[in-house]
Amino acid sequence: MSREEFQKLVLQGIPSELPSPKAYDTEINHAPKRKEILTKEQKKLALKNALRYFDKKHHEVLAKEFLDELEKYGRIYMYRFRPEYKIYSRSIDEFPAKSIHAAAIMLMLSNNLDHAVAQHPHELITYGGNGAVFQNWAQYLLTMKYLAEMTDEQTLVLYSGHPMGLFPSHKEAPRVIVTNGMMIPNYSKPDDWERFNALGVTQYGQMTAGSFMYIGPQGIVHGTTITVLNAGRKISKSGEGLEGKLFVTSGLGGMSGAQPKAANIAGVVSITAEVNPKAAYKRQEQGWVDEVITDVDKAIDAALDYCKKGIAHSIAYLGNIVELWERLEQRNVLVHLGSDQTSLHNPWAGGYYPIGLSYEESNKMMAQKPEEFKKYVQESLRRQVTAINKLADKGMYFFDYGNAFLLESSRAGADIMKSEGKFKYPSYVQDIMGPMCFDYGFGPFRWVCTSSKPKDLDLTDKIAMDVLEEIAQTAPIEITQQMRDNIRWIREAKTNKLVVGSQARILYADCEGRTKIATAFNKAVKDKKLSAPVVLGRDHHDVSGTDSPFRETSNIYDGSQFTADMAIQNVIGDSFRGATWVSIHNGGGVGWGEVINGGFGMVLDGSEDADRRLRMMLHWDVNNGIARRSWARNKEAIFAIKREMERTPNLKVTIPNVADDSIIDKLF
Ligand SMILES: NC(=O)c1ccc[n+]([C@@H]2O[C@H](COP(=O)([O-])OP(=O)(O)OC[C@H]3O[C@@H](n4cnc5c(N)ncnc54)[C@H](O)[C@@H]3O)[C@@H](O)[C@H]2O)c1
Repeated sequence: MSREEFQKLVLQGIPSELPSPKAYDTEINHAPKRKEILTKEQKKLALKNALRYFDKKHHEVLAKEFLDELEKYGRIYMYRFRPEYKIYSRSIDEFPAKSIHAAAIMLMLSNNLDHAVAQHPHELITYGGNGAVFQNWAQYLLTMKYLAEMTDEQTLVLYSGHPMGLFPSHKEAPRVIVTNGMMIPNYSKPDDWERFNALGVTQYGQMTAGSFMYIGPQGIVHGTTITVLNAGRKISKSGEGLEGKLFVTSGLGGMSGAQPKAANIAGVVSITAEVNPKAAYKRQEQGWVDEVITDVDKAIDAALDYCKKGIAHSIAYLGNIVELWERLEQRNVLVHLGSDQTSLHNPWAGGYYPIGLSYEESNKMMAQKPEEFKKYVQESLRRQVTAINKLADKGMYFFDYGNAFLLESSRAGADIMKSEGKFKYPSYVQDIMGPMCFDYGFGPFRWVCTSSKPKDLDLTDKIAMDVLEEIAQTAPIEITQQMRDNIRWIREAKTNKLVVGSQARILYADCEGRTKIATAFNKAVKDKKLSAPVVLGRDHHDVSGTDSPFRETSNIYDGSQFTADMAIQNVIGDSFRGATWVSIHNGGGVGWGEVINGGFGMVLDGSEDADRRLRMMLHWDVNNGIARRSWARNKEAIFAIKREMERTPNLKVTIPNVADDSIIDKLF
């Protein structure tokens, strides 16, 4: 399709004449049927809600069709309205736009729906089984049209994927404000998501799906590499590396698919169990996992062989993780590192496939007999934990990888609690990411080259590496390991072939690193060394973006881990300090109702305005979280915020006075 035709279709928005119905494409990965939750009256409401997007003359036809979708799939996706053109991150100048910032947003959201990137592209799900960009295709079409038409004096307002409209604002305001799944707190249980999402009034945006900031599995390869490397350092007895050691985990989906690649980069042998053949073979084709083995013993034998040779190698075991854990235990294999990345934030609707049911049987049962399915899941989790416990007794270091594994296992009654009411195993944030990264302000800073040219990405890699190397020369000892890991990462990034979808890169940097890298990018755009603007962003999984007591804020111990002030303050603060778009979500990562998380996108167009905005906004975006972590008495954060105050005279943060435990203890 020519550029003109594409642009015409974008500007058309929702077509006035009905496009022909689309066949259900069985070649691609689809979201499982969602459970039947609406009453008859609520179904009527869902249809009425969906029809709001269309001219009355089409209601008769569409009402019938949408009811059919609702009954077959549990949601109204409006498949017929899927556009004819391919959705992907084209070069920015291909998108029709009056605002270059709006065009960059179109590029980013298109990347989230690219078939090479998205988990269930026809259901507009990017990752995590239910991480949605939009609820239906009408919302997509209308949003693209608004973005194409808007000027820099307007702001587009998105309510859980629904474009409420363009509202007059001003040049300094964000171009888009995204809220996803914001609920009255008492209506934030998993079934509330099922019901209100089926009604078409809310959605689960995960972290980066509904904020258009997903950059494929690369985003998580980096975090996973750092996590595995540091987990390796934790189990290292005499400074040895991960050579010849074994890492066992599960999941080759949207984010979890990064694990084998990260394991290879970290130099460890890995087995990742995956029940869905489409997911496993997709990762193999993309080169993210070295081989797929369908027999559990053969998978273990192959891994042990690589361990013996000391060669990093990644194996996908096509089968259930519980079967793998139990077999490893029966064979008395020494597993060094263990984790899990099934989607347990979404345990009853396709996030976790229990042992004892085939993949197909599970998909059927979760929709038709949800209560029975729940029992299978809980029994499976109990068996999984039993095997993990035995292997941990033999020396395995097991950690929760932010997927609510410990939480759901405890709810299932698995033997996962220590006597004093705490989990037996740490979350990776408690042990690794929190004290080593977030408390110092290091987090998943990322960027996308909107020219979509690999050449531009190469130059940004070089710029970022030069900046980090310079900072490293004078960095204090507390952060030299982090600097070293990231310099190595960026140096090897191109060779590791990490790009899937947009020309994007991620690395962990602190406030100083992020600001200096962004400033250098903006200058390179201004000097035309980069051929188009760069979009800056980050995962919500960061120092300030996310309040999540079982993950990002699990290393906050003053009780405030159950509050969400930080994430809300963050997104409000970013929005008036220059973000191009901001987003705030309920539920990313560990599940609906369990977390509030937010993020931003910022277009660096080479202007002086961009230079001012990036300095002001990035400073807040990182230091808000450090200040909060410091107030929670985290010593690394106290160090970091004091250092920042020395650098920034205008910054005045309240520092905690740490009471001596003995003064308090003697009162009890
Ligand atoms: N800690 C982090 O930084 C981090 C990052 C990303 C994701 N997560 C969490 O990890 C989870 C996975 O994310 P995702 O995007 O990969 O989700 P996903 O749904 O795309 O992938 C999960 C995969 O697990 C497979 N699976 C489910 N049950 C299984 C079983 N019993 N045995 C083997 N395979 C099984 C599924 O088929 C699926 O492919 C989510 O809960 C997410 O929130 C954590």
